[in-house]
Amino acid sequence: MKKDASSNSSSKQIQAKGIPNHIAVIMDGNGRWAKKRGLPRSAGHRQGMETVRTIAKAASNRKVKVLTVYAFSTENWKRPLEEVRFLMRLPIEFFNTFMPELQENNIRIMVTGFSEKIPGPTRKVIQKAVDQTSGNTGMILNFAMNYGGRAELVNAAKLLALQVEKGNLSVSEIDEAVFEQHLLTNQLDPYQDVDLLIRTSGEERLSNFLLWQNAYSEFYFTPLAWPEFDEAAFEKALAAYEIRGRRYGGLNSSES
Ligand code: FPP
Repeated sequence: MKKDASSNSSSKQIQAKGIPNHIAVIMDGNGRWAKKRGLPRSAGHRQGMETVRTIAKAASNRKVKVLTVYAFSTENWKRPLEEVRFLMRLPIEFFNTFMPELQENNIRIMVTGFSEKIPGPTRKVIQKAVDQTSGNTGMILNFAMNYGGRAELVNAAKLLALQVEKGNLSVSEIDEAVFEQHLLTNQLDPYQDVDLLIRTSGEERLSNFLLWQNAYSEFYFTPLAWPEFDEAAFEKALAAYEIRGRRYGGLNSSES
């Protein structure tokens, strides 16, 4: 179904500032945080999992609609097997420990990524969390798992090409709204676009994260490592967002 074009990013003009609808986070610096303390990298990831809990609650309290966390990228398979295994087990630990809290906070779990490659036991636990929270009406906590922005775009192009090949779609019908419906984040509609992108640990890169969805987002970088990013740091990011003017390629009213 074709969406109303006014919901599309390119037709937005100036958005009222305030609380971002969709916050996406590149949770960087777990390994360095651990190394600095003489701990194994896994200790950093485990502490990072605690931060997911803290920030999910803080974002939910601030009425954020979607919080997407980059838990595992399509490139992370290149890490040592032990670390990959640990990262794949973390969602099991997370949901086994925090499900009651997620429910109390009316948080809905979603997953974005190419799930076929995720090991069975992890996939099962994640799917259970998705199902158990599917009736929740509060914030969506969206885990980007085995996610890659370029792979997502190629996948969308293939899905569209297939429909054209079958005669179910004509090339002239393909516009931004139709394209967007074929992204992995379609389930987040109407909040597919990221409003605020946070990256921790001082790196200032997008790292193949939500390439389409970050087209008009505000970027916020902090030197804090993800395990030490707390509620106060989150509030600072929100405050920085609030004073930015978003023009989506247009002009501020004072400039026109
Ligand atoms: C990047 O830091 C972080 C990751 C690749 C994994 C992020 C995962 C978590 C924070 C845990 C997520 C929680 C759940 C519930 C799935 P890095 O390891 O690259 O850090 P470094 O750059 O300091 O080495």
